[in-house]
Amino acid sequence: MGVYAITGSASGMGRATADALRTAGHTVIGVDLDDADVVADLSTAAGRRAAADAVLAQSGGRLDGAVLAAGIGPGPGPEQLSRIAQVNVFGVVDLLEVWRPALAAGGHAKVVVFGSNSASTTPLVPARAVRALLASDADRAVRSVRVFGRNASVMLYAASKIAVSRWVRRHAVTGEWAGAGIRINVLAPGAIMTPLLEEQLSSPDRAKYVRSFPVPTGGFGDAGQLAAWAVFMLSDAAEFLCGSVLFVDGGTDAYFRADDWPRPVPLSGLVGYFRRFRPWSSPRSAAASG
Ligand code: NAI
Repeated sequence: MGVYAITGSASGMGRATADALRTAGHTVIGVDLDDADVVADLSTAAGRRAAADAVLAQSGGRLDGAVLAAGIGPGPGPEQLSRIAQVNVFGVVDLLEVWRPALAAGGHAKVVVFGSNSASTTPLVPARAVRALLASDADRAVRSVRVFGRNASVMLYAASKIAVSRWVRRHAVTGEWAGAGIRINVLAPGAIMTPLLEEQLSSPDRAKYVRSFPVPTGGFGDAGQLAAWAVFMLSDAAEFLCGSVLFVDGGTDAYFRADDWPRPVPLSGLVGYFRRFRPWSSPRSAAASG
């Protein structure tokens, strides 16, 4: 049985994933604002550090996996903008950076980061905002979406999900992560019926937007079903899954982006990629060869 850290464990998909793991006999160290093993506020650097350290203390420095589900949706108010950056991006990256050695100690650890299909279905998301988030600069990210007025939080939310997805894809394939036996992937839901979505639906403006969004299967997703995907992505079946973004969104991404990917890799720079690549000795390949 494994030991898993889950942020956002008190509600919605994080809670459903924690419940499913506990029911299967695993140990879960939940992190949330309330009602969690580790009570912490991921919207501050101090809160993130305290959360990361408390999880390490409770796990004894060894983790079989982690699920980064804490997140906040678009909403009114300038403070919300900064919180979107802090929780949705730094609340993933800062924690994973601290947990990496514990995940490596797990041997075959699996990490699931909650992205969103907002990342691929929101138009006009400023590249500057994504770059700022990847550079850990919340203020610059917030400034770069102000021009969108009352839609600024929608833009920053989409930018936050692009940024975490990109961070995962850049890091998943490196020696420090893949080479240390850690598999890290993104689960990108569409509209799933959780308190986060209920809050969106409680605002007439946002509800109109959410309900008018094309969803080929119809309806909203179910938190328990998304949790089942997360648990699968934590299982041995995910040993060869590395840096993938899995959309579970009723078909919206495919509807908007049918021809956008998969795409051939551009020729420019390809030779460099081949030259730079050094196969590392992962725990698995070492075991197989030894
Ligand atoms: P939820 O609102 O039910 O749960 C999110 C949890 O994160 C809550 O327990 C909340 O207390 C926690 N959290 C928020 N701010 C925090 C902070 N500062 N410190 C510690 N914990 C904090 O949300 P849901 O829907 O389960 O979302 C889970 C993830 O899935 C989020 O990252 C969200 O962005 C993403 N997502 C959700 C979609 C949906 O339609 N529900 C769609 C696409 C992505």
